[in-house]
Amino acid sequence: MDAMKAIFSRRSIRKYTNKQVPDSVVKEILEAAMSAPSAGNEQPWHFIVIKDRKILNEITKIHPYAQALNTASVAILVCGDLKLEVHKDCWIQDCSAAAENILIAAQAKGLGTVWLGVYPRTERVDGIRKLLNIPDNVIPIAVIPIGYPAEDKPPAVRFDPSRIHHNKWS
Ligand SMILES: Cc1cc2nc3c(=O)[nH]c(=O)nc-3n(C[C@H](O)[C@H](O)[C@H](O)COP(=O)(O)O)c2cc1C
Repeated sequence: MDAMKAIFSRRSIRKYTNKQVPDSVVKEILEAAMSAPSAGNEQPWHFIVIKDRKILNEITKIHPYAQALNTASVAILVCGDLKLEVHKDCWIQDCSAAAENILIAAQAKGLGTVWLGVYPRTERVDGIRKLLNIPDNVIPIAVIPIGYPAEDKPPAVRFDPSRIHHNKWS
């Protein structure tokens, strides 16, 4: 799938079939994540691959909008490591770029995903950190379940010329 097709066809998929995602595909998706740009190439990310059904269930008790984890057999938790940060506060953008690469790479592989926001909701950050033994310097930013889609969504057309400005705001 070419990049533009993957970008335009991606939608949040919250129901998955029970077909397992091969480890080799998860690895490829993680390679895509780590290919993201980052401030000064600081690459402040860590990724926790979660397959343990008990842990996936526990996350749904901490995160009020994480029902998509119910049918997922694997999820990637994207985290930012403040100790790896060189350019202050850029870790959020770096990790978001990595998270978006996960969504697009998975789409290109015929998989569905949804970005479940964790940071900056303190109760989700604290709850997930405790559940997964994540150190204080590492901040979970998003949980991304990955699976073969069990729902079909048409591409969303959101292009809005009124949001484009030329040279100056007005
Ligand atoms: C920062 C962020 C946080 C999000 N958090 C959640 C979430 O907690 N639960 C959820 O089901 N979807 C979540 N989403 C997915 C959005 O609801 C979804 O991307 C948006 O409605 C647009 O739909 P689409 O992804 O199908 O194009 C989140 C997306 C982003 C970027």
